[in-house]
Amino acid sequence: MTPIRVGLLGIGTVGSGTFNVLRRNQTEITRRAGRGIEITMVADLDTARAKAVVGDSARVVADAREVIANPDIDIVVELIGGYGMARTLVLEAIAAGKHVVTANKALLAVHGTEIFAAARDKGVVVAFEAAVAGGIPIIKALREGLTANRIQWIAGIINGTTNFILSEMRAKGLDFGVVLKQAQELGYAEADPTFDIEGVDAAHKLTLMSAIAFGIPVQFDSAHVEGISKLQAADITYAEHLGYRIKLLGITKRTSAGIELRVHPTLVPAKRLIANVEGAMNAVVVHGDAVGSTLYYGKGAGSEPTASAVIADLVDITRLHTADPRHRVPHLAFQHDALSATPILPMDATVTAYYLRLQVTDEAGVLARIAGILAENRISIDALLQRPNDGGAVESAEARTDVIILTHDTVEGGMNRAITQMQALPTVLAPIVRIRKEELS
Ligand code: HSE
Repeated sequence: MTPIRVGLLGIGTVGSGTFNVLRRNQTEITRRAGRGIEITMVADLDTARAKAVVGDSARVVADAREVIANPDIDIVVELIGGYGMARTLVLEAIAAGKHVVTANKALLAVHGTEIFAAARDKGVVVAFEAAVAGGIPIIKALREGLTANRIQWIAGIINGTTNFILSEMRAKGLDFGVVLKQAQELGYAEADPTFDIEGVDAAHKLTLMSAIAFGIPVQFDSAHVEGISKLQAADITYAEHLGYRIKLLGITKRTSAGIELRVHPTLVPAKRLIANVEGAMNAVVVHGDAVGSTLYYGKGAGSEPTASAVIADLVDITRLHTADPRHRVPHLAFQHDALSATPILPMDATVTAYYLRLQVTDEAGVLARIAGILAENRISIDALLQRPNDGGAVESAEARTDVIILTHDTVEGGMNRAITQMQALPTVLAPIVRIRKEELS
């Protein structure tokens, strides 16, 4: 059988990894796919760089539309990134009847509904294993391996840059800004790291996992997104004293009222496997009613790890190329006419536990007043720690102390009210630190 022909749009880090792995493992991949998979055309504005990677084995052009217009190309791999040109080109490739493989989480989290509908109308596949957690086959696991389960929750470390920063902050007791600078010098963090450090990249990936897990449309706009740029070294240390690590988690949960979809720094018990995922690695825990908790761990970025996911999609499409589209695995795991309208809950309605740190004057009655406010808001205290504060933001002669409180699960709206009331006390001397806590048991 003739090889299936692939056109790459963009041949940077992931594109060159895809080319190299396909060439290196061609025999093995052909034995699996049932026919060869060849990159025959590449579009990249930097044609010299593209030619340096592919040599004479593929035609190199500067204009992506030449790839899309080529009737010999069966699959278009979009590795351009972003929402703008990538969206236009993906929709044009679909309209031209090409299957699409993409690593573009931002595009699908924001425009997925439109793109999947266009693909369905044309009877083509849009595959996106590489968009979530790089080389970890989490889309395959959610869509196929766990298909028997009613999935209850997912919690993931799905951004390597922030996990690297948090690991360094904890190991070396450094502040966020110092570690971010080091991460940029080492090439872990982008020159503009906003999407990573503010949780946006993780929220894109979480949005896709949530849709597949619960059979809902992709709804990035409804996600709560909070990054790590305001985290202080002191809280990482206090968390450790209390038996917790702080991780930037993407959490999506099914509740009786709706679906939680949130990215934020989270205290996780240090004894959990996921709390021990360090450096730039990714990990995702999926809890299903039948299987219980399962954990997926690996490299969430990088040339060949991400290429591994891109090629897995190419093999899937190659195997199913001639199959009736109705018999393919649906894009979002559930049949498109069986997606549910279960709402994404506003953050106020989310239920979780909390770590609070209050810098207070060290005098009689202060703790009683704080405990009173928590009680009035029906918030139950789980643990309490008091430590002298020998520095910090407040210039004052009065004795002050850090009070750290762990709470049991409570509704976020009540916690917001309690924080506003506590913050108004004259004995609370600095902005209250609030970090959510999940036991993941
Ligand atoms: N920038 C991401 C990370 C990888 O740091 O994990 C691509 O999504």
